Formats: sequence, C-alpha cells, structure tokens
Amino acid sequence: MPKAVRYAEFGGIDVLRVDEVARPVPGDGQVLVRVKAAGINPSEAVIRTGVLAQMFPSTFPSGQGSDLAGVIEEVGAGVGGFSSGDEVIGFSNKRSSQAELVLVEAGDLTRKPENVPWEVAGGLYVVGVTAWGAVHSVQLEKGETVVVSGAAGGVGSLAVQLARRTGATVIGLSSESNREWLESHDVIPVAYGDGVADRIRAAAPGGVDAFIDTYGDGYVELALALGVAPERIDTITDFAAAAKYGVKTDGGAAAGPGAKVLAELAALIADGHLEVPIANVYPLTQVREAYTELERRHTRGKIVLRP
Ligand SMILES: NC(=O)c1ccc[n+]([C@@H]2O[C@H](COP(=O)([O-])OP(=O)(O)OC[C@H]3O[C@@H](n4cnc5c(N)ncnc54)[C@H](OP(=O)(O)O)[C@@H]3O)[C@@H](O)[C@H]2O)c1
Repeated sequence: MPKAVRYAEFGGIDVLRVDEVARPVPGDGQVLVRVKAAGINPSEAVIRTGVLAQMFPSTFPSGQGSDLAGVIEEVGAGVGGFSSGDEVIGFSNKRSSQAELVLVEAGDLTRKPENVPWEVAGGLYVVGVTAWGAVHSVQLEKGETVVVSGAAGGVGSLAVQLARRTGATVIGLSSESNREWLESHDVIPVAYGDGVADRIRAAAPGGVDAFIDTYGDGYVELALALGVAPERIDTITDFAAAAKYGVKTDGGAAAGPGAKVLAELAALIADGHLEVPIANVYPLTQVREAYTELERRHTRGKIVLRP
C-alpha cells in the first residue's frame, strides 16, 4: 500500500507519522501522480498545531502538503492533454501532496521541463506563486528600490530574483550566512536586527519605493518608517499590521491560476533565469526531521521530501 504523511490530532512535530493508505483512484478530471518530490512550508506546521483551526478547519486523520512534482501514473475520465508517464509539476488543495501517490485536478498541473531537477520542481508551488503575487503587488518599475525581508527564505529567495528582473534595485534583509548568496544574485544584503533602518537608509540613499515582507514581526512598521507608501507595501504574513495600516497582503491567491504561474516559473528555471535554492532533502519517512529544520526559520530556499 502507498505511504502518506498523516496526523490524527493537532499538536507538535511528534503527531506526524507516515501511514500506509488505500491507493487513490482518479475521478473525473483527476490524475494520479506518483510523487517524486514534495516541498514543505511553514503554514503547514501552523495548521498542524491547531491555532488556526477556526480559519482552516481539519478533519482527521489529516494529510499534509500542497507542493508536488512527479510522474502521472493513471488518468481519470475527461482528462485531456496529459497521459501516464508524463512528468509534471503541480499542487493539491487537499493537504495531501506529502505521499507516494496523490490525486490532483488536471488543471492544477503543468509539464516539468526536463532539465528542472525533481526537488526544485516539487518545492516550487507555494513559494513560487506567493513570490510572484507579492512582487506583482508592489508594482516595481526599473530604477526603483525595493526591500525584501526574509530575503533568502523560501518565498524571499524567489521574490528577490523576480523583483530584480523588473530592473529594480533589491535590498535583501538576512543574516550573515546568506550575504554571499544574495550578492551572487545581484541583491544588496543588509543585516536584520538593531539598527536595520539606518543600514537600509545607507544602502538606499535615494529612498525606498516598495517593501515586501515575508517574515512579519515589525517589518510593516519599518517599511512605513522608511517612508514607503502603504499601497507599495505587501506582507504575506503580518495580517494584523496589514489590517491596522492598510497595506497589501497579496500572495499566492493574487497570482491567478496556479498552473499558469507554475509554467512561467518553471520555464525561467529551465532557462537558467531563476534559482530555487534547495537547503535539504529528506526521505518521506523523515518528515519530522524535515519540519524540525524548517521550524528553526533559517532555511535558505526550500526543504523537500522525497518519497
Ligand atoms: N500569504 C501567503 O500566501 C503565504 C504563502 C507562503 C508563505 N507564507 C508565509 O510567509 C512566511 C515565509 O515563508 P517561507 O516559506 O519563505 O519561510 P522560511 O523559508 O522558513 O523563511 C526563512 C527565512 O526567514 C529569515 N529570517 C529569520 N529570522 C528573521 C528576522 N528576524 N528578520 C528577517 N528574516 C528572518 C531567515 O533568514 P536568515 O536565515 O538569514 O536568518 C530565512 O531566510 C511564513 O510565515 C509563511 O507562513 C504566506
């Protein structure tokens, strides 16, 4: 029987387990994908604790995961354009991608370019569409300056590269350990922590035009203090500050159809214009170790599970 990540109650990392489950059968418009790689994301850990149970209700046992890449194993009725053996990138909205076999709506898939590695493809969806949505949200123009917090994280590492492609100057807030990676992607690294506002002002003598916050914890207030207009500030995580100051919260949902954005991002990766740094790859059976690393919140790029 195929294996899948599951949990039977809300809780810490120790509620995660890998169960044997019934083989899923594709219905109308669905395909069955044999997963080669599935990314993990901080929001999954938050949902698992139950603190957002009102906003994101769960039924138990719950599966986990949105990101996936794999090979089509079986095609349901009414599916055109895909057949078994096709290599695909996609997503599940049913918290189910961290598994050996997963059912996916055919419209939530795009073809994987041959030269995009499995772990990159499998970690692309959540961070990719979120970074795409956030960068478009702040409407950058050539010659402007944007600051990105959490600049080397899953969303941030893509956001800085997509922002740079607009011709904007990009300042990335990070720890010392990510300075070199940011510089190698033509991003100006600035250390976060005490005195960050002064360091940003020194790095941007002409002022800051836009701010993308992927970390929370006061960066919306920092953006306002730097003189950035509320409509040029996007936070994907600090919803309380967004409500208080009227800044944007555009992420993946604002990016439009997921498969279309995935196809665009995959093409950029295939052509060498976009890098998804892979911090670590764990076998599915080590899902607890994978989230232990993720929840330290110092990942560069993505952590990915390989069933
Ligand atoms: N609204 C949406 O649609 C949406 C979608 C995806 C994610 N999210 C949310 O967005 C957030 C980021 O997700 P992610 O996947 O990018 O997370 P992640 O990969 O875990 O982010 C890790 C990054 O955070 C940085 N960081 C740690 N402490 C920091 C600090 N004090 N100041 C600035 N940066 C700091 C780390 O930098 P160093 O290693 O350099 O310390 C690391 O690069 C999460 O809260 C997630 O739930 C929202």
